[in-house]
Amino acid sequence: MSMETIQDLFEHGLEDIYHAEHQLLDALEELENNTEREEIAQAFADHREETEGQIDRLEEVFEMFGEPPEKEECEGIEGLLEEYEEFTAMDPSQEVMDYHNMAAAEKTEHYEIGAYGNLIPLADQLGMGDAADLLEENLREEQDALEELTELTEEFEMDAIPAE
Ligand SMILES: [Fe+2]
Repeated sequence: MSMETIQDLFEHGLEDIYHAEHQLLDALEELENNTEREEIAQAFADHREETEGQIDRLEEVFEMFGEPPEKEECEGIEGLLEEYEEFTAMDPSQEVMDYHNMAAAEKTEHYEIGAYGNLIPLADQLGMGDAADLLEENLREEQDALEELTELTEEFEMDAIPAE
């Protein structure tokens, strides 16, 4: 695959985030199952549902470009998920796990926000305003999810975890 045009850049990024969203679908389920605090688990469940819609939008974008939906190995998210698995293998206490689950999810949101934020101007430049709008919807959901997680992190009662 050549990598010289805006179209090349766009397709590469689209396939990358398409793969990432699929990986996150599984990861959000795992996060939900690994979390005891109800409101945090609920945030994961809600965002998982949103992720399904995001995948549908990405498939629409592929269609607009006349391309079949394809995944390009997203090593960025894969690395974050690997890091997560290594942490859970350390057998953390449930409170520590709950806190860390939010941190892990927030990291993935930052990745996604960066990905969508960079795809939108490329779609615009290619004259694909409708595709840009769909990507913008995904971006907003990621930003809202990050905001919600950040609030939950701020509200988290640290007293439940021994300081040292
Ligand atoms: Fe997403």
